[in-house]
Amino acid sequence: MDEKTVLIIDGDAASRKFLTHTLQEQGYAVIQAGSGREGLVFAWRDRPDVIVLDPSLPDLGGDVLIKKLRQDQRTASTPVIALSGIDDTERMNVSLEQGFNEYIVKSGEAIARLLEAIPRLLGIKTEAPRKTGGLQIVFLSAKGGTGTSSLCANVAMNIARTEPESNTVVADMVLPIGSIAPLVGYKGSINLATIADVPSQEMTPAFLRESLPNIGLWRFQLLAGSPDPETANLLQVKRIPHVIEALQAAFDYVLIDLGRSLSRISLPIIQQADMIALIVSTDLGTVTLTKTVLEYLQAQGVDTKKIYPILNRAVGLEGMLKSDAEKILGLDIVTTVPYMGSNFIMANNQNQPIAHKFPHDTATVVLQQMTTTIIDRARNLRS
Ligand SMILES: Nc1ncnc2c1ncn2[C@@H]1O[C@H](COP(=O)(O)OP(=O)(O)OP(=O)(O)O)[C@@H](O)[C@H]1O
Ligand SMILES: [Mg+2]
Repeated sequence: MDEKTVLIIDGDAASRKFLTHTLQEQGYAVIQAGSGREGLVFAWRDRPDVIVLDPSLPDLGGDVLIKKLRQDQRTASTPVIALSGIDDTERMNVSLEQGFNEYIVKSGEAIARLLEAIPRLLGIKTEAPRKTGGLQIVFLSAKGGTGTSSLCANVAMNIARTEPESNTVVADMVLPIGSIAPLVGYKGSINLATIADVPSQEMTPAFLRESLPNIGLWRFQLLAGSPDPETANLLQVKRIPHVIEALQAAFDYVLIDLGRSLSRISLPIIQQADMIALIVSTDLGTVTLTKTVLEYLQAQGVDTKKIYPILNRAVGLEGMLKSDAEKILGLDIVTTVPYMGSNFIMANNQNQPIAHKFPHDTATVVLQQMTTTIIDRARNLRS
């Protein structure tokens, strides 16, 4: 790429120096300003490709600065990242509304986030950061009760069954209460919150492979979700990206149940996934909502090729037709999971995989085919 220029506006000399050094190492040209006024002069004179600024400047506040930058045509559309010492959601929302493209809190993870955000905002296609590491497949729906958790667990079981030599983990990230543990019958005390508390240097692949429980018939290892809202409140959300990274280093397949959450926590997970299994049930309400989710994901830069819509006939036989759902979604649906009546609930209630409880059911065959297709596609997209 031709050299891109980053303007750093930060009142703290040490912070400026560190950032400059890091960005130069990554091949960026860097201009530094120690005050807001100086920053404005450089921004308009040198027209940097990206501006990174600490909003707590001694002379001009971040809110004044962003306003001036946005009002001037020379910098109206320049990506501006707030790199702030203030870890506050309200502050973040206000900043994004004011015109900052991104709000990153100065913390241990700030540099990694910055190095991810800058090329993304510049529209530079970076090498997928984790070409190695397990395939990451997220399960998502626009509405509750569409079968997301059941399908996530059953697909994982099918992967483990098809490739016995590989290792698979299911991570339940549905907040505030996960449901995979009750679904597969896990009653132990290891869960997302306890793992998120493990210090980085201890969270090695070996540690995760040893400590996450093996779920008998299901053949995968489980990172159970939060068991109750209280635990979810205590969860160190900031650690989640690190947990996922560690899971990818430890397992060949990382399946993540995100349920219907589209949030600041789940969006980066979706953006990094190799594949997004989007579960749609056959009622008009869910399909319409799914369309909204789909458009949002596309607007957030998620490649449509990664989205794998699954029509699950969870609501009964009278649902809408696949072709109608495809028309609304504007996507081809590769897999339709048949309505299984009470069999599905029976398998769930007995904590059993569908392939185990009903080996000859159509749904078992469909799940198996879908599993193979998802894996093949995810792997192709990587290479
Ligand atoms: N194809 C199907 N046939 C029959 N029943 C189904 C089918 N798919 C799902 N179900 C039933 O639908 C219910 C919801 O499933 P599940 O908990 O997996 O959905 P979910 O999307 O994860 O829900 P939640 O929003 O609660 O997390 C379960 O009782 C399950 O047995
Ligand atoms: Mg669920």
